[in-house]
Amino acid sequence: MPHPADSLLVRALHGERGTRPPVWFMRQAGRSLPEYRELRVGTRMLDACLTPDLAAEITLQPVRRHRVDAAVFFSDIVIPLRLAGIAVEIEPGRGPVFENPVRTAADVARVTAIDPDVVAANAAPVRDAVRLVASELAATGTPVIGFAGAPFTLAAYLVEGGPSKEHLRARAMMHADPAAWHRLAGWLAEVSRRFLTAQTEAGASAVQLFDSWAGSLSAADYRAFVAPHSRRALEGATVPAIHFGVGTAHLLTDMTLGGVAAGVGIDWRTPLDTAAGILGSGVTLQGNVDPALLQAPWPVLEAHVRDVVERGRAARAHIVNLGHGVPPEADPTVLTRIVEFVKELR
Ligand code: CP3
Repeated sequence: MPHPADSLLVRALHGERGTRPPVWFMRQAGRSLPEYRELRVGTRMLDACLTPDLAAEITLQPVRRHRVDAAVFFSDIVIPLRLAGIAVEIEPGRGPVFENPVRTAADVARVTAIDPDVVAANAAPVRDAVRLVASELAATGTPVIGFAGAPFTLAAYLVEGGPSKEHLRARAMMHADPAAWHRLAGWLAEVSRRFLTAQTEAGASAVQLFDSWAGSLSAADYRAFVAPHSRRALEGATVPAIHFGVGTAHLLTDMTLGGVAAGVGIDWRTPLDTAAGILGSGVTLQGNVDPALLQAPWPVLEAHVRDVVERGRAARAHIVNLGHGVPPEADPTVLTRIVEFVKELR
């Protein structure tokens, strides 16, 4: 039977170039799919994530439909915080909202007093869902990608209490109260680590750490206040890790986390050959089809995907993906067409 460890995705993360690059999409599971919207009726987002049958089915939907080379576990970066007992909901069209924002040293003390092992103890629904997905995919050897939020991106929501544009409160805490910041970020790293471990123990063959909002940081702040915690979140992972952020051209070298990340996700702004020039041959690149071009006529999009693949040849290995998640309004038939196109490449 084909094994996920021999899949194009896992081999690409180990630096091997197969006959063609593997392809999957961030947010491939979700609102762009009518079958997802149908299944989600009447169930809140985070409750769906914690219902194993439902989370497994939603994870599998895009694999069946698009024939992508990997499943990405349907969950959310705030799930480990919910498992830690923190009151959080996802507001449709807005994002994660916390009942009690974590803004003062006293707030930080309250939250970090929660033992991160509580997350592991409460993670049975996560393990069960990943196990279901892995067993469904065993016949084809399709790998499951587990994921977690990086400490900064989680803090960007938790400190603010909800989505924000420039993540000012989290960035301010670093300088106003560095001790509180490091305590909070260190705790978030432990919580995300437990979430990743639950997924890898249940059969995830790779993981991705999402630091979606890291691009709002200066390189100096990233290095001093964020990178050590992100590194900690991935430390001890038993499978290769991809590290992703948006607007991170100035952070790419730091985002390899001193070799802890096997792959770095590149957004649509930085051409892959430019990123490869910066990062060298020690790391695999993932990306970076511009999500805006999903709306373009097919010949325009095809030329763009071809260009992405050509530039990706400058990296030691390349995983085709978007430069950020699938927009909810994307036409899923376009995603299927990208997969078919990449699979015909030689
Ligand atoms: O990629 C996948 O298909 C796997 C599932 C996944 C979700 N969220 C499902 C989801 C993953 C990997 C995430 C990660 C995530 N969650 C990130 C990092 C990735 C990124 O896009 O940068 C962030 C920042 C979050 C926090 C979050 N959760 C936001 C901003 C939103 C959108 C809110 C909205 O309605 O616009 C969510 C909700 C969410 N997470 C949805 C899905 C499918 C939509 C929920 C719905 O169906 O209403």
